[in-house]
Amino acid sequence: MNTIYAQMRRLIHQLKTHNHAYYVLDNPTISDDEYDRLRRQLIELEQQNPSLIQTDSPINQVGDKPLPFFSQITHTIPMLSLGNVFNQEDLQNFMRRVNDRLADNQKNPTYEVELKLDGLAVALIYEKGILTQAITRGDGQMGEDITQNIKTIRNLPLILDHKVERLEIRGEVLMPKAGFAKLNAQTQKNGEKTFANPRNAAAGSLRQLDPNIAKNRPLAFYAYSVVQGLPDEIHTQFDALAWLNSLGFSLSDVKLCNHADELHDYYLSVIEKRQNLPFEIDGLVIKVNDLNLQKQLGFLSREPRWATAYKFPAQTVMTRLNAIEWQVGRTGQLTPVGKLDPVNIGGVTVSNATLHNIGEIHRLDVRVGDLVSVHRAGDVIPKVTRVWKDERPANSQTITLPTHCPVCNSPVILPEDEALARCSGGLYCPAQQQEALIHFVSRKAMDIDGLGERLLIGFFAHGLIKNVADIYDLKNHASELIKLEKLGEKSVNNLLNAIEVSKKTTLPRFIYALGIRSVGESTALNLAKQFGDLDSLMQANIDALQKTPDVGTITADSIVDFFQAEHNRKVIERLLQAGVHWDSMEHTDANNQPLDGQSWVITGTLTSMGRDEAKAKLQALGAKVSSSVSAKTSALLAGEKAGSKIDKAQNLGIKIVTEAEFLAIIL
Ligand code: IVH
Repeated sequence: MNTIYAQMRRLIHQLKTHNHAYYVLDNPTISDDEYDRLRRQLIELEQQNPSLIQTDSPINQVGDKPLPFFSQITHTIPMLSLGNVFNQEDLQNFMRRVNDRLADNQKNPTYEVELKLDGLAVALIYEKGILTQAITRGDGQMGEDITQNIKTIRNLPLILDHKVERLEIRGEVLMPKAGFAKLNAQTQKNGEKTFANPRNAAAGSLRQLDPNIAKNRPLAFYAYSVVQGLPDEIHTQFDALAWLNSLGFSLSDVKLCNHADELHDYYLSVIEKRQNLPFEIDGLVIKVNDLNLQKQLGFLSREPRWATAYKFPAQTVMTRLNAIEWQVGRTGQLTPVGKLDPVNIGGVTVSNATLHNIGEIHRLDVRVGDLVSVHRAGDVIPKVTRVWKDERPANSQTITLPTHCPVCNSPVILPEDEALARCSGGLYCPAQQQEALIHFVSRKAMDIDGLGERLLIGFFAHGLIKNVADIYDLKNHASELIKLEKLGEKSVNNLLNAIEVSKKTTLPRFIYALGIRSVGESTALNLAKQFGDLDSLMQANIDALQKTPDVGTITADSIVDFFQAEHNRKVIERLLQAGVHWDSMEHTDANNQPLDGQSWVITGTLTSMGRDEAKAKLQALGAKVSSSVSAKTSALLAGEKAGSKIDKAQNLGIKIVTEAEFLAIIL
């Protein structure tokens, strides 16, 4: 039956599914055009049949007029909080307390484990299947009526097939990470104050008196309990959630566990994948699965006895900033590193945190002596995220950029309007030499197997290597190497052998290995193609350089500066004398390649080569290789186990190239 009503319901369902994919998963499943087409169809039907307009129509979700204030509502059933456990021992104690209250045949119950979503708890009341009220947790007894704002959340069903007198469900309103990043980018662009984290952004959005503002905030709702109106035949928390899901509510991950060990393993695995989740979580919530047992266990004054939160170690901790150390990078960039009173963050002792650059120091207005918040997420370098200015000691000291390089004493330069300061010492500066060495031997450069960072730094510290050309002299120091690093004859031979092998390279690799500022892997390739040989590149002037794809004035300037410096020319001469060589590049016109002007994306696993190799092959044919599919993508090279990129490419009508087809193109 294709009545107008049925058409409307189908369009509403489709739009909601796409809204969820777009706003919550940040993974749109149809093109914007197609989405607009569906939306227009619904608008048209609504205009022609106003009496049939559905209360949950996304077209109607424009929000009402701004409220003067939020009214307070008493919760029919108080919204309690949860107890916490922080480690395995606490967890076992919690489980023991549960067991102590259960009869022998009830002991060691199954636990249902959920993610502890980091947002705001909200109670939703549906009367006869229609959402009539949404209330914040407030103090647990009384909360604020945020019904207007809740109705703008796109992954939330406003009417349900289940039409009981009163259904109350609870869950978390949150802002997914992707939406948060977009919102903050926009607020920053508008010159407004950004939100500190997704939770604050979600809270700020829910408390907007004007629902038209809330409507544009990417909020999502995840259900986690039914407190009234659950069908009698449902007896477990697990089934209750499955039922909510069948009504159209989004859920986070759910797992059943029978033992403390199993639960702890799950806890560790979630910590691992936490970074990849679309939203922030701060732990797990562990609930006795059987609803009758829950009833039997009951509540303490403010929390249930049948559930607890298994919190993750904190990722942000307060500590004192004791000093600033300026580190000099390979390109001479000066990075301020904060020296901290050591603190444990998520099981790791942290005593350094980056402050990025002098601009960030000014932005944070941080001083030595300040109490600061330090954040560590996954394997990212810890960073100072906040300064507690109210706690500032009287003897705090402002931080200034050093006038001279802390390593080589050359003057520090800070280009006007830039946050990045740089040592002007170039390859004279030992800090830059050491980094230049590490870069030179790296995999995508000269790829000297076995000459890792530790060895290099050791050789450098003992004066065996001062610059990259000295690497090829190491064979004259074999006996010293053996003594120095206790390497043993065999390893030294292997190392010297690897150094010899690296002498045969390619021109793009060699150019990249020189470590010229702004010349990355693909620019090096373009330069090699444009100039064909090293001499022509070394003699090129700014105008000639700028004819190379991807080379602008800044890069051209730094290439000219590099080759003009006498010490760099000497190093290159020594490298060539030592026997570094490459097959001549056919002088190809970089603007006349088969894949010129095309933009490719690689996804999935290739069986015949690694992604780096495939990327290099595509670039050699003139294509650009980027990491995400967009309307500008020319082709998607899809290996095995390719994921969502394929769907996206299909939706955008982009050519999908199999590995076999790709091999045919490059051969
Ligand atoms: S169940 C009776 N499940 O954690 C307690 N809470 O400290 C019912 N939270 O304010 C809470 N994710 O907002 C439950 N999967 C989840 C949760 C969750 C996050 C929050 C909730 C509450 C706080 C409890």
